[in-house]
Amino acid sequence: MIPPKPHVAAMDAYALADLTPPPGKPLISFCQNESFRPPSPRAAKAAASAALDQHLYPDPDWTALRNAIGKVHNIDPAQIICGNGSLDLIGCLARAYLGPGDAALAPAHAYPFFRTATLSAGARFDTAPERELTADADALISAVMFDTRIIFVANPGNPTGTRIPRSELIGLRQALADDVMLVIDEAYGEFADHLNEPVFDMVALDNTVVLRSFSKAYGLAGARVGWGLFPPAITGNVRKLLNPNNVSAASQVAAIAALEDQTYMRETCAMTAGIRDRFCAQIAGLGLTALQSFTNFALIRFASPEAAQSADSHLRSEGVFLRPQGGAGLPDCLRATIGVADDMALAASLLKDWINKEGRS
Ligand SMILES: Cc1ncc(COP(=O)(O)O)c(C=O)c1O
Repeated sequence: MIPPKPHVAAMDAYALADLTPPPGKPLISFCQNESFRPPSPRAAKAAASAALDQHLYPDPDWTALRNAIGKVHNIDPAQIICGNGSLDLIGCLARAYLGPGDAALAPAHAYPFFRTATLSAGARFDTAPERELTADADALISAVMFDTRIIFVANPGNPTGTRIPRSELIGLRQALADDVMLVIDEAYGEFADHLNEPVFDMVALDNTVVLRSFSKAYGLAGARVGWGLFPPAITGNVRKLLNPNNVSAASQVAAIAALEDQTYMRETCAMTAGIRDRFCAQIAGLGLTALQSFTNFALIRFASPEAAQSADSHLRSEGVFLRPQGGAGLPDCLRATIGVADDMALAASLLKDWINKEGRS
């Protein structure tokens, strides 16, 4: 038998959500941070119209999609790369700039795929403390080592849902040496766009990459489209590692149509925020902590890991699945993706039943 590379043998597989409902119950999943709303009808129509051309390869340069992104965000399409989800781009960045003897750094409770991508490149993954479950630029600066090559910051973060202001990201970039790349992952960026703190201009500072996704606010998680704005020096190296034809033709046209319907996307963000904030207020009313979120999910903190596990089991026995966060170093938390209002009310009422049954929070 051929042994795998030692760093691959040593790493755990990326932990996927368990979506097996209890016998006889329908599954209500709050696990995957998908949009509760389907994409704009224009996107669905565009994807359907691409069905007849499936004998052809997609545009490997995503030309129309890059132009559409450039127009919406007022950025240079030549510096955009599209990925099979933003995961694709995170993986290529890790493979292009990390290897044995290098390290990547991220906030303590960062998106777990940063770790997977780093370890799969054979590099070490370090973390820096957070401040109240929020990325802390000063702590990241202090944690930089001689071999740190990439700092990953998801802003807003997952699973925390919290964010840091643009000024802190700029301070972080300015404190870093030129040979340290800052990757700002804005997969949930659209949910915070109303704060008017875009960071695309930071790419001009060099060694800084900003990633976005169509999976969240645009409701296209199944289409697998992510994109990033890259400095020219990084673009060529990432492109060498991409699977050519990485984004299907149907997905490219769906993403373009979704971009052209900004009203629908903004409406999705506003509806999500309304349901989320009502849910968080209900959770707080139960004596649990729900972090202020700038995303399409809420992180609920319990008194202990045992309490979180007990609440999780109670909800699961009813077919309602929240996502445990032990893998992100938060075993006392469950993360709830924001669903339709009725489903959120069900989750809140099951948590209330659990508190009444267990007499604890
Ligand atoms: C912070 C963060 N980055 C990236 C991704 C991956 O997004 P995509 O679906 O574009 O690959 C996610 C998905 O949950 C995420 O939470």
